[in-house]
Amino acid sequence: GLVNSRELFAKAISGGYAIPAYNFNNLEQLQAIIMACVETASPVILQVSKGARSYANQTLLRHLAAGAVEYAAELGREIPIVLHLDHGDSFELCKDCIETGFSSVMIDGSHLSYEDNVSLTRKVVEFAHQHDVTVEGELGVLAGIEDEVHATKHTYTEPDQVEDFVGKTGVDSLAIAIGTSHGAFKFKPGEDHKIRLDILAEIEKRIPGFPIVLHGASSVPQDLVQMINAHGGKLKDAVGIGEDQLREAARSAVCKINIDSDGRLAMTAAVRKVLDEKPEEFDPRKYLGPARDALKQLYMHKIINVLGSNGKA
Ligand code: G3H
Ligand code: 13P
Ligand code: NA
Ligand code: ZN
Repeated sequence: GLVNSRELFAKAISGGYAIPAYNFNNLEQLQAIIMACVETASPVILQVSKGARSYANQTLLRHLAAGAVEYAAELGREIPIVLHLDHGDSFELCKDCIETGFSSVMIDGSHLSYEDNVSLTRKVVEFAHQHDVTVEGELGVLAGIEDEVHATKHTYTEPDQVEDFVGKTGVDSLAIAIGTSHGAFKFKPGEDHKIRLDILAEIEKRIPGFPIVLHGASSVPQDLVQMINAHGGKLKDAVGIGEDQLREAARSAVCKINIDSDGRLAMTAAVRKVLDEKPEEFDPRKYLGPARDALKQLYMHKIINVLGSNGKA
């Protein structure tokens, strides 16, 4: 069955790697994730956002994820699979996911006051732990779009707060803001593309060995952006986080790295290419199939060259 994140994070911390947390909204994305993880023998966190729930229906997504355990075995390897709620925004939503079979949830109180974040997160932890479900909290605000919460400017996580936060809430992992952001437009032209690994190091000193999570960690591969634009797309100034910086982060206490936008780019590039080059195609399998192949390659690349979770399943 599905597993929670506790043991996976403990192993990732001691092994100096990070677990991929890939978002999914449909069958092809899920297939690509599982194929990539089976082939590289990587554990995986399947993430369902609020947007995914309303797009694809939470019940269907949950059954797909549960089926993925058997699907992986059929493909040749039983890998640890976590089903995780991404950016839960209320106790009720987290409770619903916990009661219906998610093995992990995020409660994102990062936009609240510190005190309100602590009390909401603690409430979710108390309920989740009765069900052996792990909880991710967040401190600090990412720039860009946090689902419905729009933060125009990021507020880096304050290292002085992390020990108090994890102590008071009992969370199993902590998402931090060190300059990553959601979406495909992470830096303005001319802006320094560096994330604050110095703040990460400071946070690690305060809570040694505690699992850290990075959101907004897509790299926005320029070959994909160019492919999209070469086939009728219009993505201007799309940039992401350098893979070298993420690789460095993965060697630290960062043990979950969230990637969604890069997958969207890979799918869109493949679909655009097929529809552009073969205008006679109208069978969705003829463009979603290549999109799935491209996604699988992208996910394998991340696992092997960025996260280092290959061979850890
Ligand atoms: O954190 C954002 C994730 O990429 C999910 O995005 O809310 O559009 O599904 P979404
Ligand atoms: P990206 O938009 O950088 O892929 O981040 C995804 C994410 O953080 C999901 O929670
Ligand atoms: Na790590
Ligand atoms: Zn996120």
